[in-house]
Amino acid sequence: MMTAPITADPKTIGMLIMWAQRSLDTSGLTNASQEARWLLAHALGMKHHELASRRDQAVSGEGLACAESVVSRRMAREPLQYILGTQEFCGLDFHVNPAVLIPRPETELLVQEAVREGGVTEGAVLVDVGTGSGCVAVTLATILSGMRIFGLDCSGEALTVAKKNAERHGVSNKITWKEGDLLEPMRECDLVGAVDTIVSNPPYIAEEVWGGLQPEVRDFEPRGALVAGRRGTEFHERLLHDARLFLVPGGLLVMELGQGQAPLVRQAAEQIGDYTGIQTVKDEAGIERVMIARRAG
Ligand SMILES: C[S@@+](CC[C@H](N)C(=O)[O-])C[C@H]1O[C@@H](n2cnc3c(N)ncnc32)[C@H](O)[C@@H]1O
Repeated sequence: MMTAPITADPKTIGMLIMWAQRSLDTSGLTNASQEARWLLAHALGMKHHELASRRDQAVSGEGLACAESVVSRRMAREPLQYILGTQEFCGLDFHVNPAVLIPRPETELLVQEAVREGGVTEGAVLVDVGTGSGCVAVTLATILSGMRIFGLDCSGEALTVAKKNAERHGVSNKITWKEGDLLEPMRECDLVGAVDTIVSNPPYIAEEVWGGLQPEVRDFEPRGALVAGRRGTEFHERLLHDARLFLVPGGLLVMELGQGQAPLVRQAAEQIGDYTGIQTVKDEAGIERVMIARRAG
C-alpha cells in the first residue's frame, strides 16, 4: 500500500503527525495515533514528548523522506519493533532485527520462574537454549554476578544480536555464546552432568497454524524461531530428552509452552522419565505458560 503524499508546503511536524496517523489508520492498524508518534519521533531523531511541543516546526527534506519510509514500512505490516530496532523486556531495552524473535511479555514469566525456583544462584551454571535476542540470558546475567551463563542458538545472526545486547547491558563477560543444535554445543564445554539450570523458550508453533498467524509475525519474524513441527511440541520433547545428560541431579529445566500444550509436554516428560516435581505455571491470561521439572536423583 502506498502512503498518500503530504500536499501542503512547508510541511510541519504537526502536519506530519496527522498524515502519518491517517495513513496508518487507512491500512487498518488499531493503534494508529500512538504508532504514528513513535515512528515520527524515531524518523526525526526526537524524544516522543518533543513532537507535541514542536508541532509548528518545519521538517527538512531528509526528515520527510525518513518519515515516509518508516510509515510505509509499517503500512506493509512490518512490526513496529523492527522499524524502531528495539523492544523492552523485563524493564531492559533490547536491540532487535529480523534475525531474532521480538521478545514477548509472556516470556518474562520464564525468567521469573527460573529465579523463583532457585535456579539463579551464586556459582550456578545456567544455559539458555534458543537465546535469540539474548533477552533471557542477558536479563538473568544482570540479576546476579557470580553465575556461568551460556546462550545457545542455531542461528549465527541471532547470536550477533544477542552479543550486542549483552554489551549494551554490560554483561558480556558473564555470558558465553555458542552456535549449534539445541544442547549439542555444551558437549564441547565439558559440562555433561554439571549444569544447574536450563531455560528455554523454544519454537512451539505447529506447522499448520503458521499460515493463519497475523502478517507481522508470519511475514517478518524468523520462521525457524517459531515453527516447531507437526505437533508444535517437538522441541520440548527433544529438550526433555537431552537435558537429562547435562543437568546435575536436582537440576532445573524451565520451558515456555504454547497454549494447550501442557498436557502433551507433561506426558512426554513422564514417558521420558528421570524428572520429578513436574509443574506448570499459568500466565496472566490463565494459560499454562511455563513448565518446570527437576532431574531426578
Ligand atoms: C521462540 S525463539 C526464542 C528467542 C528468545 N529466547 C526469546 O524468548 O525471545 C526460539 C529460538 O530458538 C532458536 N532455534 C530454533 N531451532 C533451534 C535449534 N535446533 N537449536 C538451537 N536453537 C534453535 C531460534 O533461532 C530462536 O532464536
